Amino acid sequence: MTEITIRRPDDWHVHLRDDAMLEAVLPYTARQFGRAIVMPNLAEPVTTPALAADYRRRILQALPEGKAYQHFVPLMTCYLTDETDAAQIAEGYEDGVFVAAKLYPANATTNSAHGVTDITRLEPVFTKMQAIGMPLLLHGEVTDPEIDIFDREAVYIERVLNPLIKEFPKLKIVMEHVTTKDAVEFVRAHRDQMAATITAHHLIINRSHVFEGGINPHRYCLPIAKREVHRLALREAASSGDACFFLGTDTAPHPVSDKEAACGCAGIFTAANALELYAQVFDEENALDKLEGFAALHGPAFYGMDANEGSVTLVKEDWRVPGTIAVPDGGSVRPFRAGQTLSWKLKD
Ligand code: NCD
Ligand code: ZN
Repeated sequence: MTEITIRRPDDWHVHLRDDAMLEAVLPYTARQFGRAIVMPNLAEPVTTPALAADYRRRILQALPEGKAYQHFVPLMTCYLTDETDAAQIAEGYEDGVFVAAKLYPANATTNSAHGVTDITRLEPVFTKMQAIGMPLLLHGEVTDPEIDIFDREAVYIERVLNPLIKEFPKLKIVMEHVTTKDAVEFVRAHRDQMAATITAHHLIINRSHVFEGGINPHRYCLPIAKREVHRLALREAASSGDACFFLGTDTAPHPVSDKEAACGCAGIFTAANALELYAQVFDEENALDKLEGFAALHGPAFYGMDANEGSVTLVKEDWRVPGTIAVPDGGSVRPFRAGQTLSWKLKD
């Protein structure tokens, strides 16, 4: 196959940031995807319907003019804290401002300092979300410093997720950016209430690649890439046609200066070549016929939405990923696989 046309896909996990960074990265997401679930972890987290409505306005203002971008619809999420008010987020959901709520364990990842310290405090919130069908999106890693960083997802399933689904058997849950075979198996076993997003980078790199030839800050994200056996399990899950797995890039841009630092921050920027990366993986798995389901159908089905009307076409053609992309504040971001050649290209 040298060309493939699929329904316009959606990205179910995106960090669009704000200000100059938003301006720099938004066009890349918008030209590929119909909708995107926008993560709420700004420096001031998006915790209320009013903050979400403001953020959505800033995103739409930053959207470039022109036909290539105007289809784009940002779907807003609520950042859960210990203080989240069940009635307020339910109102935000019912008014169509919030599509879902995101749970970051406190200090699990970038901008999660305001996250949840004790999940039991959110029981009234989960009860309400379960009743109204509002999906809960989980950053599924424990923050216990005693737990090895490579085990934090598996331990989260055992300590937090398993008890949570027993207590809330009808709560719709997305385990975001799964990185382990354990998560794939758990999601499959609880598919009546759960789904998972899978990033492009976790389909491409394992933990050794983070240290290949030296330390590679642009391959560092959270959850961190795991052993090869896990990468293979993710590739199988994504390309299986199984509806409980769908596309979520977790594109997480940071200024190059924050990545290439003594303490480089977590996040991989994949928006500049996301669909091309996924297409290459599905091609390698001989599963290009499963790309549309993963990228454009399973996500809307889980969220109870229609698939997008339009389409996108990818052609088998070599192209070189740029080394860096300029940010209007004078900085830059480095795309995943910068300077390397990819074999699928999105047609304009
Ligand atoms: C994300 C970010 O930079 O906001 N970083 C990451 O490594 N994925 C936060 C997150 O989704 O964990
Ligand atoms: Zn993320």
